[in-house]
Amino acid sequence: MSDPTVLLLHGPNLNLLGEREPEIYGTATLDDHVAAARSAAGAAGLTLEHLQSNAESDLVDAIQGARGRCAAIVINPGALTHYAWSLHDALAAYDGVVIELHLSNPNAREAWRHTSVVSPVATGTIVGLGGHGYVLAIEAVRRLLG
Ligand code: DQA
Repeated sequence: MSDPTVLLLHGPNLNLLGEREPEIYGTATLDDHVAAARSAAGAAGLTLEHLQSNAESDLVDAIQGARGRCAAIVINPGALTHYAWSLHDALAAYDGVVIELHLSNPNAREAWRHTSVVSPVATGTIVGLGGHGYVLAIEAVRRLLG
């Protein structure tokens, strides 16, 4: 049997990691974070797929495409976290493990970042731990999948 697949998703502006507000998000690039997640996944016997998109619809399509195919989704939705009910509904219709991940701690930032429409449909949430969050997310998936 093939390894369970984890779908790692990134939303808008996360393609700019490394250049974008490094005092908040750090200097590691998106490729660095994906490489760390892929390495952790490999060690845990999981296959990692990745998509970053600035378009909400691409993320909805990817979540729908994970139904019945991927064992877990790890998602950093970027600013879509705070208002994209289409992501909420797509994740509600997905029956695997969902980990919401943020590099920064949105709850310690501007008030508009304190609402997440994704959290109610996430199995768990990892915030504020920078790039280490990716390794923790994969470890959480490994444990939750048993
Ligand atoms: C973020 C937090 C969001 O509020 C913000 O819009 C992002 C990045 C994070 O990883 O800390 O784009 O999701």
